[in-house]
Amino acid sequence: MSNISRPSGAADAYSSEAALRQDLTRLALPGTHAGCRLIMPGNEAALLPGEDTNSRGRSVAAQRATGAGRLLARELLPMMGAPAQAVARSPSGAPVWPRGVTGSIAHDDEVAVAIVGPTRSYVSLGIDLEPAGLLPADLLMTVLTPGERRKGNPDDPLHGRILFSVKEAVYKAVQPIDLAFLEFEDVEVDLVAGTAVVQGRRVVPFRVSRGLRILTLAFIPAED
Ligand SMILES: CC(C)(COP(=O)(O)OP(=O)(O)OC[C@H]1O[C@@H](n2cnc3c(N)ncnc32)[C@H](O)[C@@H]1OP(=O)(O)O)[C@@H](O)C(=O)NCCC(=O)NCCS
Repeated sequence: MSNISRPSGAADAYSSEAALRQDLTRLALPGTHAGCRLIMPGNEAALLPGEDTNSRGRSVAAQRATGAGRLLARELLPMMGAPAQAVARSPSGAPVWPRGVTGSIAHDDEVAVAIVGPTRSYVSLGIDLEPAGLLPADLLMTVLTPGERRKGNPDDPLHGRILFSVKEAVYKAVQPIDLAFLEFEDVEVDLVAGTAVVQGRRVVPFRVSRGLRILTLAFIPAED
């Protein structure tokens, strides 16, 4: 056991990162590698050319979160047999992965998460991280379709937040492939089936974990 003493806020951060690591393990998709990393002061300096293309006007906190996500992505890439290298940001904001690899990144104020997988198995991946708290009532009306409101469990206070997370993860998996902007109403989520239907056409499977945070992985399997 380490005898290093940390301020209690830092201890909380470390234990919530450990919980997130377990959630990632629980959701694990075959052939993928995922991880999380606390966002630390100085992570903004880790950004390589091309990784923070629209940095003008972004706060240091935002650049720091992006830096932590990129550090994590660079740690994961060698597990896919790719060298640790810059993961550029495309004009849409999506990360640009090296040939043969797909993946996704998310962060909150405290932690970054990322997943990578082989393109022979996955066309695309999407990851999202949300606080395990109520979605504000005004957002609920925007995020949920009438069908989702009807099917939701009225006793589950996190229903809206979970659907929000699923739609964000699905957007990250689908936008780089279809190159279309999606509204919340374009994505119809079936929590029981674990699938989301995008614009009535594309069916995207997902996995959700509800722990200290809500964590979602959406994935588009490659055709056999
Ligand atoms: C992309 C988006 C979903 C990210 O959500 P967020 O809560 O702001 O931030 P997150 O921490 O979850 O994710 C940020 C990461 O998403 C990734 N990302 C950004 N745009 C992306 C895109 N078009 N495709 C895939 N991934 C994208 C980036 O890696 C980004 O991190 P970085 O800027 O440090 O590189 C959001 O910014 C957005 O553009 N929303 C508009 C579309 C939408 O929400 N429609 C309704 C849902 S269908």
